[in-house]
Amino acid sequence: MAIILITGGSGFIGKKLSNLLKEKGYKVFILSRTKSNHPNTFYWNLKENYIDEQAIIQTDYIIHLAGASIADKRWTKERKKVLINSRINSANLLFNKVKELNPNLKGFIAASGIGFYGATTTEKIYEENDTSGDDFISEICKLWEKASLQFNSINIRTVIFRTGIVFSNGGGAFPKLFKPIKFGFGAVLGNGKQYFPWIHIDDLCDLYLESIENKELKGIYNAIAPNYCTNKQLTKKIANTLGKKIWLPNIPSFIFKLFFGEMSIILLEGSRVSSKKIKDTGFKFNFRNLETALKDLIN
Ligand SMILES: NC(=O)c1ccc[n+]([C@@H]2O[C@H](COP(=O)([O-])OP(=O)(O)OC[C@H]3O[C@@H](n4cnc5c(N)ncnc54)[C@H](OP(=O)(O)O)[C@@H]3O)[C@@H](O)[C@H]2O)c1
Repeated sequence: MAIILITGGSGFIGKKLSNLLKEKGYKVFILSRTKSNHPNTFYWNLKENYIDEQAIIQTDYIIHLAGASIADKRWTKERKKVLINSRINSANLLFNKVKELNPNLKGFIAASGIGFYGATTTEKIYEENDTSGDDFISEICKLWEKASLQFNSINIRTVIFRTGIVFSNGGGAFPKLFKPIKFGFGAVLGNGKQYFPWIHIDDLCDLYLESIENKELKGIYNAIAPNYCTNKQLTKKIANTLGKKIWLPNIPSFIFKLFFGEMSIILLEGSRVSSKKIKDTGFKFNFRNLETALKDLIN
């Protein structure tokens, strides 16, 4: 069975994906900044341009998930550098190592974000061939995708998933949305009209699996559920599923701007993003609509 190397495999998506790949019989290697005695965990150090070559030599597919968390800290100048370098320098380092060692690599699969299209609330439904936005996250996504697409130049099949907000009860944004509602303190964010493009973690992991198994997959795909909702609709549906009432008023936008600075745009703005391209490949979502996803996550 093929060997899959996951960068950032110790993270929220990486852990779930590793389990799925192992269940399917793949051997999973993790590339991590933390040294480990585990035989399938390999070390890399971006500052020193170092990757344990054993990780690359044996690998059939690389899944590049590594990246400092976008929403963990305010976007100071320093933090912005970390957010960029952890994604782009890491992709460049992988590319240079693969070129140097010339392993029998069959595919490079990478994360990107729907933030590519820009944090903006419009009636437009964004598709893969639309141009990027002009804010900080769009800029990261553009550079990240450019770094990943270098693998095409050495004839390695490259797939990029522009990912929406990943819903899981095991981490990420969902528990942060769900817990205040569960304890009676949920509220709509800003005017609540911003769209909230989401995907269930199981569907996202299935997409990564599909990108390995379906050799026809190539290029950029939106990884997003085929169902649209605004922040207000999402908040109400979570409350309905829990049998709770939203009694607090909307949290005004200026509060988010005060606490989160520039980062507040990812909570306060959002448009719809199309999943047509990936559906046209034959991929079937298990969680097409929000109600089914919420029932699964909340129960
Ligand atoms: N979660 C979402 O809703 C979502 C949505 C869209 C896109 N994405 C993207 O999908 C990828 C995986 O997301 P996730 O939620 O699983 O992230 P996560 O839980 O934060 O994990 C990311 C992993 O990246 C590595 N990492 C962290 N900081 C790093 C740095 N400064 N330099 C190099 N590596 C670093 C860490 O692995 P080690 O400590 O082992 O090195 C970490 O486990 C990310 O690139 C993220 O931007 C996520």
